[in-house]
Amino acid sequence: MKKIQVWDLPIRLFHWALVVMIVVCIYTINQENITAHQYAGIFVLILLLFRIIWGLIGSSTAKFWDFVKGPVTIYNYMRYGVSKTEGHNPMGAYMVLLMLFVLLTQTITGLFLTDNTYLHQDSPLYKLISGDTRKYFKMIHQYNLYVIYVMIGLHITAILGYFFFKGQNLVKTMVVGSRKESEWHSPMAKEMSGNKPWLALVIVVVLGIVVPYMLYGYMKNIEFFVWIQNTALWLKGLLF
Ligand code: HEM
Repeated sequence: MKKIQVWDLPIRLFHWALVVMIVVCIYTINQENITAHQYAGIFVLILLLFRIIWGLIGSSTAKFWDFVKGPVTIYNYMRYGVSKTEGHNPMGAYMVLLMLFVLLTQTITGLFLTDNTYLHQDSPLYKLISGDTRKYFKMIHQYNLYVIYVMIGLHITAILGYFFFKGQNLVKTMVVGSRKESEWHSPMAKEMSGNKPWLALVIVVVLGIVVPYMLYGYMKNIEFFVWIQNTALWLKGLLF
């Protein structure tokens, strides 16, 4: 049977690693193992940063412009069920963007929190904001989890919907990377292109070094707003 490649290996590894690490984040916080929670959360942050970079320079179906479309395409998809890509459908695209945003919010707010069990270290950037701001961040970190749960619920509902009503096994495609002809989304399905797993590996290794260095080495000891100011000045110098 004819098959078509939909997802590259880096996207599949990203997806399943994200699932596992979100579970680890929730498990470790329930166990009050704040240190493990922070490390798992930073791993999630690295995964999200990787996904954003991969959305710009990765394989065709990973790229944001492959699946983020305007209202006309969304309308056509809702009305006629036609999608031009075998990757995310035009509706699912906005869910992906929302998930990235919500998970980034969760990880970024976590970086500034303190350990209220007093048994572990505080998060690496806790000194960089005031106590009042931290209360606010803590509240976001706490309630945003419910948003994450709702999103996971919608995500699973959509997958089940595809399976039972359209006979398409999206989970299997996310595991093996390909889809058989009877499950194609688009009448003239295009094969995924631009497979470059080595580039993905380099990006993950670089992020794996730079992000912890920034958090535990560099940014930890400087005033947050001074850092923002310096970065803005540096960017301005670079651009103008
Ligand atoms: C997807 C990623 C993450 C999830 C799902 C998550 C989830 C949670 C949850 C549910 C809580 C308990 C909130 C409450 O009810 O008070 C919590 C607390 C906390 N999280 Fe996260 N978190 C994530 C990422 C991070 C990151 C990246 C860090 C820091 C490196 C972090 C540091 C903390 C700290 C310090 C607390 C407070 C613990 C305490 O009150 O003693 N989290 N997190």
